[in-house]
Amino acid sequence: MSTVYVFDHPLIQHKLSILRDEATGVKEFRELVSEIAMLMCYEATRDLPLEEVEIQTPVSKAVVRRIAGKKLAVVPILRAGLGMVDGMLALLPSAKVGHIGLYRDPETLEPVEYYCKMPPDISEREVIVVDPMLATGGSAAAACDFLKNKYGCRHVKLMCIIAAPEGIAAMQDAHPDVDIFVAAEDEKLNEHGYIVPGLGDAGDRIFGTK
Ligand code: PRP
Ligand code: URA
Repeated sequence: MSTVYVFDHPLIQHKLSILRDEATGVKEFRELVSEIAMLMCYEATRDLPLEEVEIQTPVSKAVVRRIAGKKLAVVPILRAGLGMVDGMLALLPSAKVGHIGLYRDPETLEPVEYYCKMPPDISEREVIVVDPMLATGGSAAAACDFLKNKYGCRHVKLMCIIAAPEGIAAMQDAHPDVDIFVAAEDEKLNEHGYIVPGLGDAGDRIFGTK
């Protein structure tokens, strides 16, 4: 069974409180999504392996620790996941970025794929899938299916800003090997598949399409 990490860091919670507010406009919403992604990335990369290397400081030789060449990829689920990419790359400047385009059919709530482009060596990379919202879990589970079954990825993590309990359960059922990182686990889904209390439609609020 995968582990669910809920980040209760005060900075993340403060920014999330502004993100949820319906009075928050597009510009601030975008900035907050990126900032929260950066703070979450800091926590979610805690387990990156380190190796010791010897360097020369201006004073003496020193054995220091560096990230042990682990290759990373960030995979946003389009559209809303795009809002998290800049924040991730601020901390992981060498990571490659793959894109998966999925939208939820408004009637069935099932994910429909419309775009997919991955770095050629994606199967060798540790992948962090990013999407602000984990609602039914259909989109995230489908993205992980693609990554594992079509691209051969073996190390996948999922990072979302807000998750519904239903989405977490669906992901854990479909992908028990994928750890999940969230800033908040909300109460439930409503009859339209929206997270309650949530923040509304993340894609529309990032791109100003409603
Ligand atoms: C939203 C969100 C997730 C998905 C979550 O995207 O960004 O991708 O819904 O719902 P699920 O867990 O029930 O699959 P949406 O389909 O609205 O597309 P968009 O990002 O283009 O707005
Ligand atoms: N997608 C969103 O953008 N918001 C929700 O609450 C659920 C799915």
